[in-house]
Order: sequence, then C-alpha cells, then structure tokens
Amino acid sequence: AQSNVVFEKALEFFLLNLPAHFHPPNVKVGIICGSGLGGIVDTIDVATKVEFPYEKIPGFAVSTVVGHTGKLVFGLLGEHRTPTVCMVGRFHFYEGHNLSQVTLPVRIMKLLGVQNLIVTNAAGGLNPVFKVGDIMVINDHISLPGLAGNSPLVGPNLDKFGPRFPPTSDAYTYSLRKLAFRAALATGFPRDSIREGVYTFVSGPSYETRAEARYLRSLGGDAVGMSTAPEVVVARHCGIKVLGLSLVTNAVVTKRGKDAFKEVLREAGEHVEDFEEDTDTIVASHEEVLATSAMRAEQLQSLVRKVVDLLGNE
Ligand code: 6GU
Repeated sequence: AQSNVVFEKALEFFLLNLPAHFHPPNVKVGIICGSGLGGIVDTIDVATKVEFPYEKIPGFAVSTVVGHTGKLVFGLLGEHRTPTVCMVGRFHFYEGHNLSQVTLPVRIMKLLGVQNLIVTNAAGGLNPVFKVGDIMVINDHISLPGLAGNSPLVGPNLDKFGPRFPPTSDAYTYSLRKLAFRAALATGFPRDSIREGVYTFVSGPSYETRAEARYLRSLGGDAVGMSTAPEVVVARHCGIKVLGLSLVTNAVVTKRGKDAFKEVLREAGEHVEDFEEDTDTIVASHEEVLATSAMRAEQLQSLVRKVVDLLGNE
C-alpha cells in the first residue's frame, strides 16, 4: 500500500512543472500505451506537448523492458484539442514492481482530473477465430493474480480514491465500448479484424505453456497478456471509466505437443495412428509481438484518436 505522501509529492511535481491548462481538473483523458503502441504521442501538436521521463517523476518506478521507453506525455489531442495524458511504456508486475507502483500513474491521472482511461496492450490470441493483427475491444477480464491475492487493492483501503469493496462487474464501460466500435467503423478499420472479448491477465514473464493456454481458454479467455487488469481495477476503484483495447500480436499455442510415446512405438515397428497435431516448432516470441505491433500501430493510433474525438462530442 502507498502512503498519501507519494501521491502528494507526485502531484506537487506536476503542479510545478505543468502549464495551467493541464492542472487539475483539466486533464480529461488518460491513455496507457502498450508494447510498441506509443506512437500516438507523435500526433500531439508539439506546441502543446510536455514530456516527463519516468525517472524525473517523484515516486515513479523506471520501466525496464526492451521496446518500452518510459515517459508521461501531456498534450492536446484530436479535433477538440482534448487535454490528454499518455503513458508511453507502462510498469509490469513481471519487472518486479509491486502493484502499487504499477498502478500509481492511474491514481495520479485521477488527481489530475482524468475521467476516461484508454488502455492498450499487446496480447496473445486464445480465441481460435482471432487472427494476428486483430483488435479486441475488451469487454471483461480475468485477473488470475488478482483472484489469487495479487490485487492492487490489497492493503489498507485508500478511502480518498474509492470504497473498500468496489464492484468490477462494470469494469469496461459499455458506452466506451460502443464508442470504440463506432470509431472503428468511422476510421475504416477492417471489419473482420475488430472483435470483442475477455482479456486474461497473467503475471508472466514466460509465455504460457500449452496446458496453461488451454486452461485460460477453458476459463473463457479470448486473449492473454501481462498487463492492464491491475490498472483497470485501480481506475474503477476511483471511478474512472475504462476502454481497453488488445492488439492480437500472436496466436497462442493451445494444441497439445507431439506424443513422444507414439513416436517411439512407431520407431519400434508398431502401428500407431497419426498424430493429431504437430506444432512443436511454434513458440511465442517477443519479436513477433513487436513486429505485429509495428504493423498495426498506426491503425490502432487512428482508432484511439477517433475515440478521443468522439468522447469530446459527448
Ligand atoms: Cl502469447 N501471452 C502472454 N501472456 N502475453 C502476451 C502474449 C502471450 N502475446 C503478447 N502478449
């Protein structure tokens, strides 16, 4: 759990270093950019842009993953010049940060005035219908670490942010999901590449085994990743509405591997039926994840920008 001093120090820093139009409660939208998806900040008018590397912000951890540079970027975004704060690079549990550190930026966003949070991530596809490059609008999540004791809300409740027992049955705001689909249609996002489904949060950093992947699928997961759920729980705790977007960067291997015993029996001259599957050479890789991000980054950015424009019209 975090002491209030942490929030106060970070807030004081922003009051000192931000122009008044980004002072509370003026920042309306928060964006957390997933792996390779930080390019949206390049579309912010440079005249309005203010950047803070995480190491300069009191209380912030420093993110350590290749492909995630860490900075908080403020700017006026889109046709309504919406005051927006973007995290380029986020903190992951698997880096060794505790969930208070992972979710601190969300609480800072709350203190700055953020009412709507757009969270993007790279995820593995569990749903066999999903293709690499698809975008999934998250309509619910399963936080396995959260269910097992690693919730960001464990510890003394921070009453000034929200209640002890917040509901999460409305975690991914329906009106924002509709907005995302309207934005997808409006930006000409390929219709058969936009989906809706359940995001499964696992700690990582190893990718799933086949059996784990089948387990997650059997739980009802459509995609799996190593982020997002803690930030979303903290956002909902303090009343921020959430839109979650997963970019399906790879197909998770869920089929069983080769049956070694069958192969040995066949070598020994016994008749054995053909293998159902032989997918032993397919493995998840961070390179594939980053390559797919790069391929879809611009389309996802347009989508997010359009969502911000539509939010401004509400
Ligand atoms: Cl396959 N698994 C997990 N846990 N996270 C991912 C992923 C897979 N692909 C992208 N992120």
